[in-house]
Amino acid sequence: MSLTPGGRTDDPRSDKLVAERIAPPPHPGDKTGSKITTASLRELKLGHEPITCLTAYDYATARLVDEAGIEMVLVGDSLAQTMLGYENTLSVTMDEMLHHVKAVRRGVKRALLLADMPYGSYQLNESEALRNATRFVKEGGAEVVKIEGGEKRSDLIRRIIEAEIPVAGHIGLTPQSVNVMGGYKVQGKNLAAVEQLMRDAVALDRAGVACMVLEGIPREVAAMITAEVSTPTIGIGAGPDCDGQVLVFHDLVNLTFATPAKFVRHYGDAGAMISDAAGAFREDVKSAKYPSDEESYHLPKETKTGLDTVLARKRTMRG
Ligand code: KIV
Repeated sequence: MSLTPGGRTDDPRSDKLVAERIAPPPHPGDKTGSKITTASLRELKLGHEPITCLTAYDYATARLVDEAGIEMVLVGDSLAQTMLGYENTLSVTMDEMLHHVKAVRRGVKRALLLADMPYGSYQLNESEALRNATRFVKEGGAEVVKIEGGEKRSDLIRRIIEAEIPVAGHIGLTPQSVNVMGGYKVQGKNLAAVEQLMRDAVALDRAGVACMVLEGIPREVAAMITAEVSTPTIGIGAGPDCDGQVLVFHDLVNLTFATPAKFVRHYGDAGAMISDAAGAFREDVKSAKYPSDEESYHLPKETKTGLDTVLARKRTMRG
């Protein structure tokens, strides 16, 4: 018998105190049971059914998000901050990203799995970009790779699609350009910038991206882009008129340590839950309330009787 870190056991008969293996619950959001593909995204846009996307970075959250019926799971390079504590997304490497993509792959069955190409993995040259995109598919099991930038990336995006790898675009506030933008600022606020955003969106549409993330832009601009392109648009800080919405998982459940952006809505408070649980565990251990006798393993009756006899004999001999 081996105990797993989840407190479960390979042998469910071995001890009543051990939690039974849990069968995967059905997808609450799964009306058709069908796998989400890039084609599904277009169908959802055509059917005016809002598309949902969340980031996930590990097996457990990926599985929960997938089982909640979310259509797209993105292993975002935001894991640089949320999971690894880096200051921004510029430091995270291909190998670090792949490590998380593989874990998420094991947890996702139905949703479309997207992997973010990290900074430096596609900017240097085309063959390096193709090699890295291929690694996400071959080693990580990703179905789509995401690349930041519009018009200027369209040739590269075409080459990656030619290599049979679907691509997601990402325009507006592109966090990998933080140093060029001079901070995380809403983009597309003057006419020239709006025009550039439209050109970027149309270039991505023509290049054949599977979807495009619109981040940190006025809702009016996101609405115009969404009406103009046949590609599904997925907004984050881009208002309600996009074809879908994406949130960073840690924002969704209040697991970040910074002041949230205007568009963030907390749907749960995992931060408070984890702090409370850790504090309560500490209290219980310090006051000898954990573990209880019921939470302890016991010797079989005959071994206990034998042990008591041996100990009694030793005590008698001692004197
Ligand atoms: O890295 C990320 O999480 C993203 C989302 C914000 C779209 O790119």
